[in-house]
Amino acid sequence: MTIEDNKRGLEKIIEASATIFEPQSMKRFVGGIMEQLTSLLYLDEEAVFCQTSGLAAEGSHNDMKILVGTGDFEGSVGQNLEDVLSSDWDTDIEKGSNGHGHVLTEGPYTSNFVSANGIESLVHLTGLSELSDLDQRLVDIFSKNVGIAFENMYLKNDIEDTQREVVYRLGEAVKTRSKETGNHVKRVAEYSRLLALGYGLSEEEAEIVKLASPLHDVGKIGIPDAILNKPGPLTPDEWVSMQTHATLGYDLLKNSQRPILQAGAIIALEHHEKWAGNGYPHNKVGEDIHVYGRISALADVFDALGSDRCYKKSWDLDRILDLLREERGKHFEPRIIDIFFSELDAFLAVRDAYQDRV
Ligand code: C2E
Ligand code: SIN
Ligand code: SIN
Ligand code: FE
Ligand code: FE
Repeated sequence: MTIEDNKRGLEKIIEASATIFEPQSMKRFVGGIMEQLTSLLYLDEEAVFCQTSGLAAEGSHNDMKILVGTGDFEGSVGQNLEDVLSSDWDTDIEKGSNGHGHVLTEGPYTSNFVSANGIESLVHLTGLSELSDLDQRLVDIFSKNVGIAFENMYLKNDIEDTQREVVYRLGEAVKTRSKETGNHVKRVAEYSRLLALGYGLSEEEAEIVKLASPLHDVGKIGIPDAILNKPGPLTPDEWVSMQTHATLGYDLLKNSQRPILQAGAIIALEHHEKWAGNGYPHNKVGEDIHVYGRISALADVFDALGSDRCYKKSWDLDRILDLLREERGKHFEPRIIDIFFSELDAFLAVRDAYQDRV
């Protein structure tokens, strides 16, 4: 029977660990830990649990805020940990917090983790009855996995934050050079996300497209100022030079292994290709153009038409919508134009929210 219990316990841990290793937000992560831990401890059917209450908090050592709470702690979300827990909790934590650790006393269970960048997370459960040896060992194994998952999540967040920052700083460089407003890339980012979701890409992929789309014109960094900011039509030679911004941007990003920058490379290269052909730089047609390119083409043009540029004034909305209808199946993929018009309100809401001049 002991072997059988052990086996069930370990199965439960494997199941629980798989859940906590899924990519997710910190809030869902800590919520998941509480859930899994509680169900882990309910394994022993003999055990009687009164009302189990739990909370998870995050912050730096002296300033921890409660992220999630159940039972007695349900109303405590957003409050300071100090104000909610009695004074003996931090001695419990001190005992367990040499690096990563958890504390198991009879009654409350407290587990806390410190990430490399000093962010602390804490899970605290009360109302557990005395734990059996098996329970103790299972919780111990589970807590080690939680520590690893927590560390992974922070490393992953750090990589994503780095990518976001690189994208943002490159976008700033283009903005400064071309005297475009920062809101242009924000709008293009939101339009691209809406189109990606409408196209049926997953939330994750839509987020990547959103984060990468501000890079579409990053190659403009390499275009001479006299051309980039010329207050009128370009000569044929200047136009040839201007068109190189697509490949310049691609070359800048293409060797990155980071997903957001890879997506940015594709978007930089293909945002001026056209569904029916005659785009640049490669005169691709239809589905040979990456879907990110097809999406960002519409997002960019919709926004560029509605904006003042050094060479043109912004257009009225009606004139813009007429052109987009006209270009359905020519410049733009029909399906993407259809998504745009079926969700027009959402696009206009973004346009209103990020106006150039307020
Ligand atoms: P952009 O200003 O960001 O414009 C992006 C795209 O929006 C353009 O790509 C074009 O497809 C569309 N667009 C913008 N304004 C108009 C317009 O008045 N009429 C129409 N029909 N479409 C418009 P495109 O044409 O490949 O141009 C790429 C970039 O080249 C532009 O980015 C802009 O930086 C530059 N550019 C294009 N034409 C001129 C020009 O006459 N003078 C100057 N100085 N730059 C130009
Ligand atoms: C950002 O644009 O940097 C935030 C994106 C998000 O996580 O929604
Ligand atoms: C911004 O935050 O200004 C746009 C860049 C991004 O979405 O990361
Ligand atoms: Fe462009
Ligand atoms: Fe643009």
